[in-house]
Amino acid sequence: MGKFKDLFVKRHIEFSPFYRWHHWIRFFAIMFLIVSGFYIAYPFLSPEMDPNPTGFLYAKGRTFHEIAGFILISMFMGKIYYFFFVKSDRDEIRSFKDLFSVKKGMKQIGYYLLIGKHPVLSGAYNVIQLLAYIGLYIMLLFLILTGLILYMHVYHESFLVFLNGPLTYLEVLLGGLASVREIHHILTWGVIIFIIAHVYMAVFNAVYGKEGTIDAIISGYKWEIPESEKLK
Ligand code: HEM
Repeated sequence: MGKFKDLFVKRHIEFSPFYRWHHWIRFFAIMFLIVSGFYIAYPFLSPEMDPNPTGFLYAKGRTFHEIAGFILISMFMGKIYYFFFVKSDRDEIRSFKDLFSVKKGMKQIGYYLLIGKHPVLSGAYNVIQLLAYIGLYIMLLFLILTGLILYMHVYHESFLVFLNGPLTYLEVLLGGLASVREIHHILTWGVIIFIIAHVYMAVFNAVYGKEGTIDAIISGYKWEIPESEKLK
C-alpha cells in the first residue's frame, strides 16, 4: 500500500464548524444588509395607501436592517476572538509572514495569470488573498462604526449610553451625520466589489486548483492532490 499512497487523493479538515457557520451566517446577514440598505437609501416599495397609521414598511425595513447589523457585529466579534485566541486558527495568523514578500506576491499573480506554479505559502492565505481580507475587515469595521452612529440617532439607551461619547467624537471626525451616511453607503459598494472578486476567486481555485475549495466551506474538507497528479 505504501508505494501507492501518493496515487490517491487524500482529504483533510480545512475549515472548522465555527469557521463554516460564521461564514454562512455572515454571508446571509451581509446579503440582507445590502438589500435592506439600498431600500433605506431609495425606498423603491411603498405600502398601500391607508388612512390608518399602519403602513410602516420603511421603519420595518430599517428595524430588520439593524437586527441583521447586530448579527454581523456578533459574527465580527466572534471572528476576532477566533483569530487571536483559538489554536486551530494559527494558520490564518501565519499568513502574515508572507505579507511583505514581493517574490511570493509576483509568483501568485503569475499563478492567477495561468503562467506559473502556486508559491509555497507560510499560512492559510496568499498575499493577494490576505490583502483582500484585510480590506474587507477594514470596510466591515467602518460599516459597523458608521452603522452604530446612524443607529445612535434613533436609539439612545442600553450600551449606546456608554458608546455615545466615542461615537459622537467619530461622527464629528467623519464630517457629521450626512457624511457618515454617505460613507456607510460607499462602503456598501466596496463590500459588493469584494463579494464579486471573492466568488470569482473561489470558482477559479476550485476549477483550476482542483482542491474542492467551494465544497470545503460547506463540508469542511479539502482535497490534497498527489504530487504526481499536479498540473496535469
Ligand atoms: C455589511 C454591512 C452593512 C451594509 C452593506 C449596510 C448598508 C446600508 C446602506 C446602503 C444604508 C443606506 C445608506 C443611505 O441612506 O444612503 C444603510 C443604512 C443604515 N444602516 Fe447599514 N449597512 C451595514 C451594516 C450596518 C450595521 C452593522 C448597522 C448597525 C446596527 C447599520 C445601521 C444602519 C442604519 C441605522 C441605517 C439607517 C440610516 C437612516 O435611517 O438614514 N448598518 N446601511
